[in-house]
Amino acid sequence: MQNFQDKKVVITGGTTGIGLATAKELVAMGAKVIVTGRHRDSVIAAAKETGATGIVSDQSKLADIDGLVGEAGKHLGKVDVLFINAGIAAFAPISAITEEHYDSIMDINFKGAVFTLQKFLPILNDGASVVFLSSINAYNAMENTTAYAASKAALNTLTKIAAIELAPRGIRVNAVCPGPVNTPLWGKVGMPEEQLQQVAALIQTKVPLKKFASPEEIAKTVIFLASADSSNTTGAEFVVDGGFNLHTMIG
Ligand SMILES: NC(=O)c1ccc[n+]([C@@H]2O[C@H](COP(=O)([O-])OP(=O)(O)OC[C@H]3O[C@@H](n4cnc5c(N)ncnc54)[C@H](OP(=O)(O)O)[C@@H]3O)[C@@H](O)[C@H]2O)c1
Repeated sequence: MQNFQDKKVVITGGTTGIGLATAKELVAMGAKVIVTGRHRDSVIAAAKETGATGIVSDQSKLADIDGLVGEAGKHLGKVDVLFINAGIAAFAPISAITEEHYDSIMDINFKGAVFTLQKFLPILNDGASVVFLSSINAYNAMENTTAYAASKAALNTLTKIAAIELAPRGIRVNAVCPGPVNTPLWGKVGMPEEQLQQVAALIQTKVPLKKFASPEEIAKTVIFLASADSSNTTGAEFVVDGGFNLHTMIG
């Protein structure tokens, strides 16, 4: 087991799903963790459940990111692990994309990620690890996902550029690209429950391992990238998808 004793960790979007699972595991390993979210009640509940410190902060708002960096500096001092995980998914065909749909996704998933990294730079320790939560949608032409998939493809490009720019400080930057994960995200994409169940069943037939990942399975990869066990890994994209991205041609 990696040692995170007294390591300082910030996780954006840590109130449910993958962020929450990662926070729980890292607190159990001895880390001092901050989790964020947009809603006070869920931030308080996540802090209680994990033993992390909860801070209300909206990743799409630059003033909130400034506030988060200020609070993180006060609570943690310098930061060893920055897990930029907060994200939303919503789907629409190109003919129906609105400015609001486009902006809401890009502002949280990409613009917020860029400025979270930028604003944390002064309080990141040299040798820190940055992990972005991307998606296999970055690689795939799934219909109705223009804004979501583009936001994740952009994150993967950011990962590589940041890895080069931050290498002189020994800061490693990597992305985790999950396939389907069993988290509350699916309940928020705007599909009626019946359609959601049909989509979930269809996805499971197409994933070679025949299942959605658990948030804990994704957290394990995030923690590997956050730890010294991945000390020579930077600018990498880790696909954790049960084989979904393999595109078998027959069968
Ligand atoms: N679940 C999947 O199948 C899957 C697959 C591939 C990639 N991902 C990616 O994994 C990441 C985590 O998603 P999840 O599946 O764990 O979903 P989730 O359970 O919905 O968690 C998302 C977290 O992000 C927070 N959040 C959303 N918008 C935010 C904002 N503007 N500022 C701060 N926090 C915000 C949410 O809290 P509030 O809403 O209360 O703010 C929540 O804590 C996302 O980037 C998602 O795109 C998920």
